Amino acid sequence: MAPGGFASRGTHMAAMPGHRPPYLPPASSQIASRPPGPRPAPSLEDDPLSNADSPLFQPTKVGAIELANRIAMAPLTRSRAGAGDVPRPMAVTYYAQRASAGLIISEATQVSATAKGYAWTPGVFTDAQVEGWRPVTEAVHAKGGKIVAQLWHVGRISHPSLQPGNALPVAPSAITPKGQAFTETGFQPHPQPRALEVDEIRQVVADFAHAAAMARKAGFDGVEIHGANGYLIDQFLRDGSNHRTDEYGGSIQNRSRFLLEVVEAVTQAIGADRTGLRLSPVTPANDASDSNPAPLFRYAVEQLNRFNLAFLHMVEGATGGPRDIVPDFDFTALRRAFHGPYIANNGYDFAMADAAIREGRADLIAFGRPFIANPDLVERLKTGAPLAQPDRETLYGGGEHGYTDYPALAA
Ligand SMILES: Cc1cc2nc3c(=O)[nH]c(=O)nc-3n(C[C@H](O)[C@H](O)[C@H](O)COP(=O)(O)O)c2cc1C
Repeated sequence: MAPGGFASRGTHMAAMPGHRPPYLPPASSQIASRPPGPRPAPSLEDDPLSNADSPLFQPTKVGAIELANRIAMAPLTRSRAGAGDVPRPMAVTYYAQRASAGLIISEATQVSATAKGYAWTPGVFTDAQVEGWRPVTEAVHAKGGKIVAQLWHVGRISHPSLQPGNALPVAPSAITPKGQAFTETGFQPHPQPRALEVDEIRQVVADFAHAAAMARKAGFDGVEIHGANGYLIDQFLRDGSNHRTDEYGGSIQNRSRFLLEVVEAVTQAIGADRTGLRLSPVTPANDASDSNPAPLFRYAVEQLNRFNLAFLHMVEGATGGPRDIVPDFDFTALRRAFHGPYIANNGYDFAMADAAIREGRADLIAFGRPFIANPDLVERLKTGAPLAQPDRETLYGGGEHGYTDYPALAA
């Protein structure tokens, strides 16, 4: 499975020769700025059908963070960090180029050394990593943007070669996930993970809080806890990966315990008004599965209300795949159950995003793939300009090419 837990038919990384990349842009990723057909005659007043009139371009606020518009850049792993899992200077250019997004959510970022599951992904738990991130956050702020760090523990979606001391990856239960890990030497099958002891779970919770404080030190406006895409928090939530018989397994309440403890620790560390959470209730990414996700996620979302989070970010459907993978799953009910700003993601184009905001189905829309090849996505959505398509060969790993060299539209 690709780094973001990105849904694909196989397990492939563009950077690795001989592997098919995980991402094929769907035809629908072409932004439809208007329905086809004749345009109405322009008036002397503002064109009432102009994309620029969309509430997408209105300012808003998530928790304590003021945003210039309602467009978020979804977290996108690009596997280009350097030694010590420190972001390299090209990340400064990359994020600054995309700073017209109302909110940038960073690529998934390790909370500890054992949290890592892919080659060349960054962390935010050492001083060197903080220093690597600081120019990124400064550059985004200098352009009027806002940026939160996505805090990540991969759990079982890892490999000993990515772990300290070549240890086995950890998980709620010792259940081997299907799929392969993206290591520095190529793809390797995920091994059977080791089940975490209760005192180790407490340490992982503390690691999230530490990373959140380090993210603030690095200048991030806040964090997004990565509870999605089959990684550690999602592994605890869903019964396909959690067979524990202690207070962290079994009932919906017990399987939600780890998530809620992480949320509590992070909000205590940096404030709830700077803490967001990403969930993906029905994605099959990274071998995630649950026998009955509706009541599980309903309970989790209701419990989250007591924290007053800055936002809840929902991957609606299979990450990067069909939105209706579980046709009767009711995301609108979850949105209504959550008492705070709701960011919707997955397969949105301008028309869908505009309608979702107008109809109150979301407060912000996160765009993932469209931001890769369109650093000025906000401007393109506003003007209805065509979107460039990303090069699949340079999604994960490598240098500036396919990362910082996608041009903005000529002025
Ligand atoms: C190259 C790539 C990397 C991704 N990395 C992450 C990640 O680090 N964290 C995450 O939560 N999702 C990740 N995703 C999933 C995206 O955030 C998003 O959910 C998905 O692309 C669907 O949104 P879209 O249709 O707007 O692209 C990644 C997707 C892609 C294509």
